[in-house]
Amino acid sequence: MSSSARIRYSFPVLGALLCAVTLGAEPAVDPDAGARLYGQCAACHGADGAGSAEGSTPRIAGQHYSVLLKQLRDFRGGRRQNFRMQELADRHHLPQERDLAAVALHVNRMPAAGAHGLGDGTRATAGALLFGARCAACHGADGRGSEARAVPRLAGQHYGYLVRQMYDAVDGRRATLVDVHERPIEPLGFDQVRGIADYLSRIELR
Ligand code: HEC
Ligand code: HEC
Repeated sequence: MSSSARIRYSFPVLGALLCAVTLGAEPAVDPDAGARLYGQCAACHGADGAGSAEGSTPRIAGQHYSVLLKQLRDFRGGRRQNFRMQELADRHHLPQERDLAAVALHVNRMPAAGAHGLGDGTRATAGALLFGARCAACHGADGRGSEARAVPRLAGQHYGYLVRQMYDAVDGRRATLVDVHERPIEPLGFDQVRGIADYLSRIELR
């Protein structure tokens, strides 16, 4: 057999292997089950997934699927701590692994538009510049994040929630944020943190 024949042969084998690995990692997703399971979430996140404008509960509608699934798994495994969400992501509320995936897919498909909790507007322009310099490499120029890299969309998120998460990251309250955020967020002053959050909260989602 010539070497080019061997190469042609190896691609389908590699493809099948990659496929098997991917399918093995992700449970089959049932969107109808997702809508039913979401009934447990609406009391706090709202029927439309928009959360609360004052920022205690985040907008989750339209967030990347990979991000939603990771957050639910982190709450379930205790890697991200919040007593309400740790309870909701437990096996009593979402019994099977595939339930996490189903509800994440349902939330991902919900339209993201809706009211945003905003800052006072005075620091948003400075915040946009800081975001471009310190955050956009990962979160995207317009804060849209990345499904492929499981980086959250921050655009259109409530101001109060964003400020709190940034402080939770540098103060170690949200352990999964510390590694990547210590350098970009730690040196910022309170006004700069508020400016970035204000800029992001004002980005309109479609
Ligand atoms: C009792 C109120 C409550 C209920 C019910 C609830 N959540 Fe939450 N959820 C919260 C709060 C509060 C936060 C923010 C936690 C924090 O500040 O870290 C949150 C955070 C999240 C996040 C992380 C968002 C992000 O941007 O990182 C996801 C995803 C999420 N919830 C999904 C769900 C799903 C799916 C359900 C239903 C199975 C649900 N929640 C039910 C209160 C609730
Ligand atoms: C090296 C890449 C990287 C950089 C740079 C970065 N982030 Fe992040 N950020 C991430 C990842 C990855 C996550 C999700 C982590 C997780 O799963 O908990 C995240 C999560 C967040 C969250 C939580 C979102 C939510 O929905 O709860 C906020 C807020 C945030 N980043 C703000 C910022 C800001 C502001 C900057 C710049 C000052 C920044 N990040 C810079 C990668 C980055």
